[in-house]
Parts: sequence; C-alpha cells; structure tokens
Amino acid sequence: MMKITLILGTALSLFGVDGYSVYQKKCMQCHVEMMEKQEVLKHINTLKAPPMVEVSNRLRENIIIADEDQDVKRRVTIAFIKDYIENPSVQYSMCHPMAIEKFGIMPSQKGKLSEKEKQAVAEWIIDRYAKVKF
Ligand code: HEC
Repeated sequence: MMKITLILGTALSLFGVDGYSVYQKKCMQCHVEMMEKQEVLKHINTLKAPPMVEVSNRLRENIIIADEDQDVKRRVTIAFIKDYIENPSVQYSMCHPMAIEKFGIMPSQKGKLSEKEKQAVAEWIIDRYAKVKF
C-alpha cells in the first residue's frame, strides 16, 4: 500500500495534476461538491452555481453517443468541459433554463487554468460522480 501511494504520488507530481485539488482551487467557490436535489432547492438563494454533482449528471445524460461508445463519450465530455471552462455560453450550456436564469452564465475562467489542469479537472468531474446519481 505504502509503495503504491508513493508511486502514485510521484507520478502525479512529475507528470500530472490532481483533478480534485484543481477543483478545490478553481471551481469549488461556485460549485459545491455534493448536494441532494431537495437541498439544492432549499439553498438555491445561497448557491452561486449548480453543485458539481448536478453538472456531472447533466453532462452524462445529455451527451449521447451513437452505439454508446464509452471511450468516445468520455473524450467528448472532457472536450466539452475544457471548452466550457474558457467559453461558457447560453448556446452551449446544458444547464436547466431555470438554473441559468437564477445563476446567470458561468464567468469565463480563461487564463486561470493550464492545459493540464483543465484536463485533470475534467477527468475528475467524470470519475468522481461516475456512480453518483443526482
Ligand atoms: C464564479 C463562479 C464559477 C466558477 C469559479 C466556476 N463555475 Fe462552472 N458554472 C457557474 C455557473 C453559474 C454555471 C451555470 C450556468 C451555465 O451553465 O453557464 C456553471 C456551469 C458549469 C458547467 C455546466 C455547463 C452545462 O452545460 O451544463 C460546467 C461543465 C462547469 N460550470 C465547469 C466548471 C469548472 C470545471 C470550473 C472550475 C475550473 C468552474 N465551472 C468554475 C459558475 C462558476
């Protein structure tokens, strides 16, 4: 276990970025990590954006790939998130129209994340909620 942790830690520091820490630094101030749907409705006035669990579930439900090819779906979802970080737009948002009315469109985070950080956080958003329903 110790060995695995060490290897993982080294691999992360040498080659990559930890998606969760990117989320904590760059997304968490607006997107809370976990919240039940009923809680969202209750706290709608203090939230700044849909919780990340909701964002992740929306992308999973709305991005539909022919033949349900999971590899393609993953790549398309990653590309969407990376693009959305820099170019949020009403046209591309898959958010519920009511949520957009409430929160407004996400402010562009252009220039605030490196390519590796965008990749890492996009993968984290997919993997963190892979088995979590909203
Ligand atoms: C200043 C607040 C703020 C920050 C910081 C922020 N977001 Fe958002 N985000 C929003 C709001 C508000 C929405 C909902 C409206 C919309 O879809 O644009 C949103 C929506 C989204 C969506 C959903 C788009 C869709 O079509 O459903 C994604 C994906 C997303 N954010 C990713 C991120 C990631 C990744 C980060 C961190 C790198 C981040 N956001 C940081 C406010 C923020």
